[in-house]
Amino acid sequence: MTKLFIKTFGCQMNKLDSELILGQLLALGYEEADSPNHADVILFNTCSVRRHAEERVFSRVGALKARKRREPDLLIGVIGCMAQKDAVEVRRRLPHVGLVCGTRMLHRLPELIEEARRRPPVLAVETPDGFCLRRSGSFRRNTFQAFVAAMRGCDNFCSYCVVPYVRGREVSRPIDDIEDEAKRLVDDGCVEITLLGQNIDSYGKRLSPRVDLADLLVRLDRIAGLRRIRFVTSHPRDFSDAMISAIAELPSVCENVHLPPQSGSDRILKLMKRGYASAYYRDLAAKLRREVPEVTVAADFIVGFPTETDADFQQSCSLLQDVGFQNSFIFKYSPRPGTAAADMTDDVPSEEKARRNNFLLDLQKQVSLAQKTALVGTTHEVLVEGISKRDSSKLMGRARTNHIVVFEGPPGLEGKFVNVRVTSCTPLTLFGVLAPQDAS
Ligand code: 5AD
Ligand code: SF4
Repeated sequence: MTKLFIKTFGCQMNKLDSELILGQLLALGYEEADSPNHADVILFNTCSVRRHAEERVFSRVGALKARKRREPDLLIGVIGCMAQKDAVEVRRRLPHVGLVCGTRMLHRLPELIEEARRRPPVLAVETPDGFCLRRSGSFRRNTFQAFVAAMRGCDNFCSYCVVPYVRGREVSRPIDDIEDEAKRLVDDGCVEITLLGQNIDSYGKRLSPRVDLADLLVRLDRIAGLRRIRFVTSHPRDFSDAMISAIAELPSVCENVHLPPQSGSDRILKLMKRGYASAYYRDLAAKLRREVPEVTVAADFIVGFPTETDADFQQSCSLLQDVGFQNSFIFKYSPRPGTAAADMTDDVPSEEKARRNNFLLDLQKQVSLAQKTALVGTTHEVLVEGISKRDSSKLMGRARTNHIVVFEGPPGLEGKFVNVRVTSCTPLTLFGVLAPQDAS
């Protein structure tokens, strides 16, 4: 039996893709290896968003060179975004790689693997855009939570971003398909679904009849037994009033959004081609909070974008503080060849990028701590995800607002909903105790 190991880099879409691929291959008789050392086929599902992620892949795959020499039958595959974008460089720098499969050919992976084991190397990167990779079989990493791809690709072409080039134009899945998959998942014991899309709020743009993400949420909210729906990632410009109402009104839609501002400076936002100014972002966040007072908002910021001055950076700092994000993912600008921003000089020195990165992280820590401290004494419905990584005597789960909650509880609660009263916190975590449980 062929043993397979998949190592995943990057975003949640990649995690989902790896799960779908693994599901497909297990259904065909492959077995999952517990480590790459015991695998006959090793796949690296890769990310191109920043140079750093690419370098990690080059070094991880590079380290397998000697083993491939000892074990000529070992198949090493590089799949996903880097394969799509840099097939030639991957082949050149990693000649021991037998399979390079881009984002648009992943649905053909089973046959490509077979081909590559017979006659390497196999390069597969081009097909028209399409919604190819689907869930087949019943394999899932976790029975009570699932990612469901609603759309793929992006039409926005933010000036720094490689995603539209490697993932292609936006393609939305028909609403009935998504509803069917969600129903099947719920029949299988799933209580929480996270809808994925590079630009989830433009879901349905080219479907006919035209539907939008709020329509999709209304449909999914009707599925009995589906207790929580999340969706990522939102674009501020496409985040409609209908979406705010959906969060406010639909019981299963969670009070949490990932709404990346990227910068607080209007000049930088313009250079980034984000399509909004910081006042628009602030208004949107305020409107959302007015309609859904308990909502939490997660951010992405890029620091050190070309020409970003300290004054520009200060505006990102004030946006972070004024909006009061739950958490921020902060990235040092990394020029991506082929994007519009790559033509600008990458003029912020890397030490300065690191300084801004750390400063913003520190600020976020303070905001997070204040926000969580205000929650001490409140009670939250928590979906228990498992044992806490930091303290194996405790359980860990998430509130609807996506706060991480750690508490003591009996075994067997994984996948169950419990009420937890918050007793203390750190910037990243709420700690609590089991509170009286509802009849449900
Ligand atoms: N450099 C740094 N960060 C980037 N991101 C996207 N492209 C780049 C880049 N070239 C960040 C953005 C995006 C997140 C997924 O990655 O903040 O929201
Ligand atoms: Fe990249 Fe912008 Fe599309 Fe997000 S919206 S994937 S940052 S181009």
